[in-house]
Amino acid sequence: MADRELHILPDNAGLLQAAAEFLRDTINDVLSTKSFCTIALSGGSTPKGLYERLASSGFSNNIPWSKLRFFLGDERYVPLDHPDSNYKMIRESLFKDRQPEPGTLFPVDTTLPAHEAAAAYERTLRNVLGNEGVFDIILLGLGDDVHTASLFPNTTVLEEKTAWVSDVYVEKVKARRITFTVPLINAARTIIFLVSGASKSAAVHQVINGQRMPQTFPAQLIRPRNGIIHWFLDQDAASEVK
Ligand code: 6PG
Repeated sequence: MADRELHILPDNAGLLQAAAEFLRDTINDVLSTKSFCTIALSGGSTPKGLYERLASSGFSNNIPWSKLRFFLGDERYVPLDHPDSNYKMIRESLFKDRQPEPGTLFPVDTTLPAHEAAAAYERTLRNVLGNEGVFDIILLGLGDDVHTASLFPNTTVLEEKTAWVSDVYVEKVKARRITFTVPLINAARTIIFLVSGASKSAAVHQVINGQRMPQTFPAQLIRPRNGIIHWFLDQDAASEVK
């Protein structure tokens, strides 16, 4: 199996449609051999349009929602109703027209002290995934500084080799985050990077073609051990890919 596949679409609308179709099809492939499908969702603004598309009738009716287990690949350490909360964004997009069934959407408990919130989330992950920690699907975004999830340049969490979830203070955004670690992400079967816009073209180039400098370009650390990375890019984001 190749370890990477590029999907380059002409514009943002085409990108979101292609990513939604791929996600729907991958979910149904997983469910042809498993009773449930585990999906880690990305935060930020890019995936919001994807989540709204998946929630629309064109997709929603072809997705077996009760068989999905949604987690957040990272979360801002704020209350779940805070404007910056990824959970809030996901509830207002992917679940704007439906209540998630009990046991299908797992928020980070940000009422706990940050280190305990990370440990509690890891316990929840182990309860659902088992100790192998293999996600069926992990959706990631990419910052223009080449961060992904909350794995930012020159932060200690980049060195984490065993924990699945860590809390980290990110100087750049002056905020604490709870994030999946590199080992957990790299255990996944299918990783989807969803990246849109010219502002990300240099970051995409650094990950796909650039010299390996993972402390500076953390998304370079994403190398699935037994999986594949699907890059969903619009033309603008892909403009520097060689
Ligand atoms: C977050 C995300 C983060 C995001 C990138 C890209 O919590 O913000 O997980 O890693 O994917 O920062 O964000 P945009 O899609 O908003 O550009």
